[in-house]
Amino acid sequence: MLAIGSDHGGYALKQAVMKHLSERGIEYRDFGTYSEESCDYPDFGEAVGRAVASGECERGIVICGTGIGISIAANKVRGVRCALCGDCFSAEMTRRHNDANVLAMGARVLGEGLALKIVDTFLDTGFDGGRHARRIAKLAEIEQRG
Ligand code: RB5
Repeated sequence: MLAIGSDHGGYALKQAVMKHLSERGIEYRDFGTYSEESCDYPDFGEAVGRAVASGECERGIVICGTGIGISIAANKVRGVRCALCGDCFSAEMTRRHNDANVLAMGARVLGEGLALKIVDTFLDTGFDGGRHARRIAKLAEIEQRG
């Protein structure tokens, strides 16, 4: 199960991403927002982050205008490794090296075609493990230190 969320700035792209996920047969849960009415991105970044951190969802996708605010919000949740990606190379490498569990995108930055390719790359790439696992453990240690 995939968690997905956006603010009003990311609403239209989120609709396109959900259609794409359905066409691929990927199950998702939409944590809002549910219209283009102005709202606050931290609410949706947190909701998706908590769904992933709790194990309710394996991975998440968050979208706002730039992708920046909602990625910061998701990363405030312990256990979340949210990566803001604007290209497929970054989406591949953040899965392989950072084991990113949430993808953030900026709807006012990316065209829909590129955004969907980034989603596919993020979903279809695995974690390399090895030395990268040690580095991810250090990220968790930083969280513990607060
Ligand atoms: C909303 O206007 C905008 O600030 C938001 O979507 C996002 O870009 C924040 O980082």
